[in-house]
Amino acid sequence: MRLFSVLCCVVPLLPQAFSTILQNGQVRETHFLNTRTAPITANTTGWKTYGPNATELSYKGRWDSKHISWWAAPGLKFGFSGQDVAITFGENTSPGVLVAYRVAGLDWQFTNVSAGTHHLVSPSTPGLNATLPYQLPLTFELRVTNWAYGVQISAVHVSSSSKLIKLPNYGKTIEFIGDSLTSGMYATYEAFSGFGYTIGAGFGNVEFSITAYPGICLTDANCWGNPRGQTYQWFQTSDTSWRASQIYGTEPEKWDFGAHPAADIVLINLGTNDNNTANNVTSEQYKSSYLSFVAQVHEVYPNAQIILMSLWNGFYSIGNSYAQAGAFIDEIYQVYEHYKDGGYVHYFNSTGILQHNDIAPQYHPTDVGHIKIASHVMQYIRIKFGWEFGAVGPEVQHETLYWNDEQNY
Ligand SMILES: *[C@@H]1O[C@H](CO)[C@@H](O)[C@H](O)[C@H]1NC(C)=O
Ligand SMILES: *[C@@H]1O[C@H](CO)[C@@H](O)[C@H](O)[C@H]1NC(C)=O
Ligand SMILES: *[C@@H]1O[C@H](CO)[C@@H](O)[C@H](O)[C@H]1NC(C)=O
Ligand SMILES: *[C@@H]1O[C@H](CO)[C@@H](O)[C@H](O)[C@H]1NC(C)=O
Ligand SMILES: *[C@@H]1O[C@H](CO)[C@@H](O)[C@H](O)[C@H]1NC(C)=O
Ligand SMILES: *[C@@H]1O[C@H](CO)[C@@H](O)[C@H](O)[C@H]1NC(C)=O
Ligand SMILES: *[C@@H]1O[C@H](CO)[C@@H](O)[C@H](O)[C@H]1NC(C)=O
Repeated sequence: MRLFSVLCCVVPLLPQAFSTILQNGQVRETHFLNTRTAPITANTTGWKTYGPNATELSYKGRWDSKHISWWAAPGLKFGFSGQDVAITFGENTSPGVLVAYRVAGLDWQFTNVSAGTHHLVSPSTPGLNATLPYQLPLTFELRVTNWAYGVQISAVHVSSSSKLIKLPNYGKTIEFIGDSLTSGMYATYEAFSGFGYTIGAGFGNVEFSITAYPGICLTDANCWGNPRGQTYQWFQTSDTSWRASQIYGTEPEKWDFGAHPAADIVLINLGTNDNNTANNVTSEQYKSSYLSFVAQVHEVYPNAQIILMSLWNGFYSIGNSYAQAGAFIDEIYQVYEHYKDGGYVHYFNSTGILQHNDIAPQYHPTDVGHIKIASHVMQYIRIKFGWEFGAVGPEVQHETLYWNDEQNY
């Protein structure tokens, strides 16, 4: 089963992010903005500067005490007045990291950023002078698209007569705990196209955090170069990246669960890497890790509904058809059965959602595969827990507008 279950990879130690996107092996046409500008400091005429701990800034996902982002698709959100927003990124920003950002409900724009100042919103940015009804205050949102690279916020700047505005959080929170699948590895815009992001953003009215990292096991073992598994790493602020090891060595900051809104729903998709013979995790170790992990998640989030997702683990051709491999099918169900009387652990059966052609050559879902998973999970959450959909139109999945405007083939 080795051939379809290689789920990750030695995490590349690239010093620099590259923003060329390959689609079916061809260079994808992109329109990334060049936002680099001369440094803006607290004294620069025409600008008002806020520090990274300004109360108006809402950080999404996991950020550490130095305002460095971690894990998959972390974000920043705030309201602002005026027509300009610039951000000064700190020295711990991955060089050239691709970020998505938008104003109000207009489409995401992309730019690659490095340490230094980037002028992201200016009077020519779409959405600033829209006709009524006009969304006020203007919201600014930013997401890191990748799972290993990150940014550090040093300062946020608006024009001198303007200000930042604190936006309230949505009332509900969902947390995704996963590996490369949840973090969108090999999807077009990586974490920003993955099913974790697509579910969280897809609801349109919930806060979400994606603590997922490629190659990571549930069991605390070295898997594909990730030194620790999620039973350890999930309790840390940073992920298992090379970047984290450079900044924190083996002593990451602990994540302060009490200082952040508790998750109402936790969706776990873990075990595909444990299930790979390369990582030496036995089925007994996996099951006992899962049993204790669920207890630990319940301890930090006593009111959360915990959903255990079954694993598809790729497809193989058999005879003149295809079949799903699956991983730890019985073990995951047994963990669910162990806890089900408590009422807070649920089993999401993913079998039948994906077909063999929803998996790309690098063993991960295509963009379509991610959307299928996300759509089913969202409907499951709506029916089971009564979470209504809050998205009203602004795009969630960027550049998935494939169309046909001819007829009669
Ligand atoms: C993005 O990053 C690449 C490589 O780091 C760089 O050459 C390019 O000029 C950057 N800007 C845009 C707008 O793509
Ligand atoms: C701003 O100007 C003051 C007074 O000229 C100076 O002491 C300070 O270092 C400057 N700050 C920055 C960030 O340039
Ligand atoms: C932010 O940090 C600065 C400098 O460390 C401090 O003076 C300020 O009070 C902090 N502000 C908030 C809102 O925590
Ligand atoms: C918005 O209005 C300002 C002046 O009020 C103008 O300078 C700017 O070009 C306008 N932006 C757009 C996108 O139309
Ligand atoms: C797995 O076990 C084999 C044989 O004992 C060993 O060579 C290999 O280093 C182990 N791999 C890991 C990731 O521990
Ligand atoms: C992976 O899971 C499958 C399905 O439950 C099981 O048959 C297989 O033994 C597991 N393999 C490893 C290496 O854990
Ligand atoms: C999951 O769904 C598949 C396909 O419908 C079914 O064969 C399987 O029995 C289900 N598993 C569980 C545990 O219900």
